[in-house]
Amino acid sequence: MIPRSITLAMVLLLGCRDRQPTSAIAAPASPDIHVDTWGDHWLLEEANRYLDDPAHRRRSLNASLTQHDNSYSRQRLDHYALGATGWDLLPAWNPVSVPITDAPATSLEGVAPLWDGRRPDSIAAWVELGRAVFFRYPLREESYLEHALARPALARAVGIAQTSDGSYPGAVRFRDIDGGTKIGLTCALCHTDLEGGALVVGRARRSFDYGRMRLAYHADTGAPVDAELARRMATWGPGRADVTEDRDEDPVAIPDLWGLRDQQYLTQAGTIRHTGPAALAIRQETQLLNSNHERVRPPRELAWALAMYLYSLRAPARPAGVPSLLARGESLFNEHCVECHGNAAGGGPLVTAARVGTDPALATGHGRGTGRYRPPSLIAVGTAGPFLHDGSLATLEDLFSTERLAPTYRGVHGVRAVPGHLWGTDWSAPDRTAMLAWLRAR
Ligand code: HEC
Ligand code: HEC
Repeated sequence: MIPRSITLAMVLLLGCRDRQPTSAIAAPASPDIHVDTWGDHWLLEEANRYLDDPAHRRRSLNASLTQHDNSYSRQRLDHYALGATGWDLLPAWNPVSVPITDAPATSLEGVAPLWDGRRPDSIAAWVELGRAVFFRYPLREESYLEHALARPALARAVGIAQTSDGSYPGAVRFRDIDGGTKIGLTCALCHTDLEGGALVVGRARRSFDYGRMRLAYHADTGAPVDAELARRMATWGPGRADVTEDRDEDPVAIPDLWGLRDQQYLTQAGTIRHTGPAALAIRQETQLLNSNHERVRPPRELAWALAMYLYSLRAPARPAGVPSLLARGESLFNEHCVECHGNAAGGGPLVTAARVGTDPALATGHGRGTGRYRPPSLIAVGTAGPFLHDGSLATLEDLFSTERLAPTYRGVHGVRAVPGHLWGTDWSAPDRTAMLAWLRAR
């Protein structure tokens, strides 16, 4: 077996194989963000403000919630950074957690906790700690995953896969807060992909069928499940999940995590205004304590480290493309698309759901809704898909064709029209070809 330190290094390189950033976090590309604001020095100072000043956290939370009335915002406004009450009183949990491999499980006795308790003093050290959190911090105990891991055929069918070194990214064995040894899931289960056994960190695991994995557990063990929830989980399909615990039916595609730094809004409905790294760190801090049923919170250093790691992720290299097509595609894009897709990642400000015209359920949902959608990053969009927030279109060709507008269209989720986002659909075939070539080279 290859030593773990070497495989980690390989994996890091694979995650950034197109270009080596000079700093762990690339220099800002967006003209409307001041260079100083994202420099290493500023990021390290901002880390201290986030970690040491509850008033700063509270202000950052307020500024980062797009729409204060959805349940995502309300829950955070009611509990976050209040000092004497709410989530500040939860104990910080620094777990003992090891990756799951084919090797027989050994005891967790004597294994050091994920974090050594020292605050990193460079961005590179923050990124390295963030990587450990991304792969090893358990969101919670996950019986569904444990069940699938014990059944190789089921695991394969739902997208639980092994890297060439035999580990299952996103699955860990850990000591839970009650002292028991459990199987848990981590960020890497949904936000890494495997290409011939090699890891692509940050690409959505589009083969991961969370609904089917959960339903298999209920079918095999007889553990009861709410009939309505079971019906809904069967409709998610690979690469999608309904991440809100409400009755709204709004499953959402797992996004690629490229270019987050340059996005003004986070999540497909733009639930979070990305006012700075504290906005992302708060998202991660509250996601982790929520997934763990509000019993513990992560040490804030780990939430900040996750944010630094997410910013450092780079998409693999894209094909070069044919220069004449690219030139035409770029000029069409600048004329028709930059209004919404104009930031350095190819995303932009929120657009009302009515104007985009795609399925409005997520935008108007009680959970994360803002009434609007966020133009997603277009980095490596050629290897993304299914497209749109709900993953309803299999290919980029489908997005720019009029066939999908007819009720007889067979999309990813059955026979029905997929309306909205009409930009480019009425173009000539050569123009559409040029646009597709340009998008695929991004
Ligand atoms: C069960 C699958 C799953 C797991 C596990 C998971 N995510 Fe996600 N993630 C999603 C989905 C689905 C979305 C889209 C949510 C939305 O748009 O409302 C998402 C969205 C995000 C976003 C916003 C991206 C954007 O383009 O705005 C970030 C950042 C993110 N996840 C990071 C993480 C981190 C860090 C972890 C671990 C703490 C994690 N996720 C765990 C499925 C998952
Ligand atoms: C008025 C704003 C607006 C304009 C103009 C616009 N878009 Fe979009 N675009 C969006 C929004 C919002 C979404 C997300 C919609 C959703 O998920 O329901 C989106 C989604 C996309 C996606 C899907 C990405 C993915 O990963 O799912 C692509 C590709 C895209 N746009 C390309 C283009 C191109 C090319 C043009 C110009 C021909 C264009 N857009 C014009 C707002 C716009």
